[in-house]
Amino acid sequence: MTKRKAAGTKSTSRATRPVKPSGPSPVAGPDAARAAPERKALWSGRFADGPCESLKAIGDSLRFDRRLVFEDILASQAHARMLGVQGILGKKDAKSILVGLQSIADDLEAGKLRVEGADEDVHSWIERTLTERIGEAGKRVHTARSRNDQVATAFRLWIANRLFALAMEDLRGLQAALVDRAHEVLGVIVPAYTHMQRGQPALLSHQILAYVEMLARDGTRLGAAVDAAMEQCPLGSGAATGVPYPVARESVADDLGFDGPSRNSMDSVSDRDFAVEALAALALLQVHLSRLADDVCLWSSSEWRLLELGDEVSTGSSIMPQKRNPDGAELTRGKTGRVIGHLTGLLTTLKGLPMTYNRDLQEDKEAVFDAFDTVQTCVHVMTDTIARSRFRTEAAAALLHRGHLLATELADFLVGKGVAFREAHEIVGKIVRTCDEREIDLSDLTEADLAGFDRRFEDCATALDFQSAVDRRDHVGGTAGKRVKAAIKAWRARLDATS
Ligand code: ARG
Repeated sequence: MTKRKAAGTKSTSRATRPVKPSGPSPVAGPDAARAAPERKALWSGRFADGPCESLKAIGDSLRFDRRLVFEDILASQAHARMLGVQGILGKKDAKSILVGLQSIADDLEAGKLRVEGADEDVHSWIERTLTERIGEAGKRVHTARSRNDQVATAFRLWIANRLFALAMEDLRGLQAALVDRAHEVLGVIVPAYTHMQRGQPALLSHQILAYVEMLARDGTRLGAAVDAAMEQCPLGSGAATGVPYPVARESVADDLGFDGPSRNSMDSVSDRDFAVEALAALALLQVHLSRLADDVCLWSSSEWRLLELGDEVSTGSSIMPQKRNPDGAELTRGKTGRVIGHLTGLLTTLKGLPMTYNRDLQEDKEAVFDAFDTVQTCVHVMTDTIARSRFRTEAAAALLHRGHLLATELADFLVGKGVAFREAHEIVGKIVRTCDEREIDLSDLTEADLAGFDRRFEDCATALDFQSAVDRRDHVGGTAGKRVKAAIKAWRARLDATS
């Protein structure tokens, strides 16, 4: 992904300034379509009557696909430019279309125009608005294209732009907040859990950095989804089979930042694998956010009291005055089902579709839009939660003396004395059993106590020390202080270099 700029940015230097990637700002509220005047279909020749209310209710997509408006304008500009160059449209018409489209984009950006009306979808809205502005020439913009290749192109651009920004900005913000925290608490030892049982001592920073690693892979996956979306440009595929005009598909693809034109028109109007790949990357990112959220819930619980949530990132209870609840983290965890649902939903929509374009495909957009919005909000809420809470490092020491965290150390100590690990495991296991009977922790035992169990435990002081247990894991990926410190430094450099 590093080689790729935001989608659609290639033509910035061209005469007609491309529009910015879309934001939700130019859109109207959900009631706008209802308030708008009756629709007159742009392709009204075929029908005496317009669609009935129920068909409009199920089919009209302007209320959500208006989010594609900037990408659709951008693609329409590239298309019109090519039509002019190829002589498919007269130079005057092409110019007028380009100027008209730009005026729409500018007015949207300036807040002077909103995407609203009784139009079926954003494509019809743009064509109608263009025609209202420039007259006859506006009716020629749809030469040599169909909404089928048009929507697939605009949606690819939208996905690429948004996922790129999510990876480069939002995700990095969360990683940076985590790295800052890891740096702040460097040296603090906590129990590392397996099976939700205390296992071995580890640096809290090491655990925090684990999330930074997961998010880095999420960034790579989002990048791969951007690349998948930008690989093949559908424009020129027409409705399904191509178009009977001398189109220059390479130049349109290049203009929009795609690697090239799609190799098969039927494939490119009918598949949405790029949307599935985007959803898969989003779903896995959300799963990682959910795991972090779950740790936040545990850390801030009354049992652990390891994390004190900042006022701005906790909520109170309507009845229990003492509460400081981690609602942001809980909702992040809760919304994971919804994002995974969008992924399985779209896969299910696609699975039985005959060739080529079917209207079922329109279901792709709300799934991706909602998954994207949800994940982005959750990235922000987790960033704020991490940045605005305080680790109560003073509470960490108290967590170490339950759960016999040093059991592995003692077994390894015996291994150092030549005892086979399996036998050492058994010896320590018996000592743990005795400790349980006496209701004490292994760390309460002295060297002398241990030597009483097995004389080979003489000089085992280092094995009874949490700090040296941590420091002995001194290899790549281990929790030793100097390794974790180096990892923090490496992450800082990496995040700085790419920001
Ligand atoms: N709103 C449609 C979609 O999202 C646009 C393409 C409509 N094409 C058609 N032949 N009805 O898929």
